[in-house]
Amino acid sequence: MKNESVKLTVILPQIPDVEVVAIKGMEHLAEHLGIQDEKIGEARILVNEAIINALGHAGEDNQEVRVEFTMTKQKLVIFVEDYGTGFEPDKVKDPNIDEKIHSANKRGWGLKLMKSMSDDFIIESGPNGTKITMIKNLT
Ligand SMILES: Nc1ncnc2c1ncn2[C@@H]1O[C@H](COP(=O)(O)OP(=O)(O)O)[C@@H](O)[C@H]1O
Ligand SMILES: [Mg+2]
Repeated sequence: MKNESVKLTVILPQIPDVEVVAIKGMEHLAEHLGIQDEKIGEARILVNEAIINALGHAGEDNQEVRVEFTMTKQKLVIFVEDYGTGFEPDKVKDPNIDEKIHSANKRGWGLKLMKSMSDDFIIESGPNGTKITMIKNLT
């Protein structure tokens, strides 16, 4: 099929290493479309970071994380949603490498990495949760 588009939706429960399930699913789509493994290397990192954030900030009533992949040979759209209390992305300070080197807390690179590694990055966050949409060109 020319210009085939495949979509996969997974609802992840809060169990250890569950992000691997989503990543495996994404790899399966890529394999189906004949996309080389190297092409989705950075997408794995994006998916991993977004899901780990979502699981860590999930809602109390609904702790699930919803992940959707829409893939063609040309591009991958990654959507990750949690039902937590959200945050204000503009207020998150960019990490500073010099400070981080001397600090015990090495965290805080996820958002910066997702923004820089994706070809498009959209974040919508509010009191009912957070949605992250990332686009990765595969050509
Ligand atoms: N899905 C989310 N829901 C609520 N807050 C979030 C979410 N994703 C990120 N954040 C906030 O943005 C901060 C920065 O995220 P990130 O850059 O991934 O660093 P880290 O996860 O190491 O703290 C987090 O510490 C958190 O306060
Ligand atoms: Mg993070």
